[in-house]
Amino acid sequence: MKIGIASDHAGFEMKARLIAYLQEKGFELVNFGTDSAESMDYPDVAHPLALAVENGDVDCGIAFCGTGEGMAMTLNKHQGIRAGLAWDPAIAELTRRHNDANILVMPARFLSFEKVTAITDTWLSTPFEGGRHQRRIDKMPVSRG
Ligand code: RB5
Repeated sequence: MKIGIASDHAGFEMKARLIAYLQEKGFELVNFGTDSAESMDYPDVAHPLALAVENGDVDCGIAFCGTGEGMAMTLNKHQGIRAGLAWDPAIAELTRRHNDANILVMPARFLSFEKVTAITDTWLSTPFEGGRHQRRIDKMPVSRG
């Protein structure tokens, strides 16, 4: 599985640790940055990650910022993106089961690395349930007719 990953300066250390963790498990990672503590604007990496997921260049995505909020808001501007903000494995599981989230967003400033790996492992291994949830997902996109 090919995973796109992005963060702003608030999440870059957590991102680097998670990349190493996931590579060790055999996942292929595509890093969209940022890769330093220098202050930057999260939309500059969120939009390229969203486009890669929408285009199928990667199978899914993971994103960090301090709270996760800015990343989630930006990613969800894309009609093909369902970015789920998760701070707990149970929420991560439901973003997959019920919302078919294609990008996992986490708040780097509020989580330990152990919590991040638990959330990520759960998210990556949980399938979408389909059924009534598919009907709801089909109603998400906004058309500009
Ligand atoms: C950066 O200081 C912070 O605002 C950003 O990481 C994020 O939390 C925004 O939503």
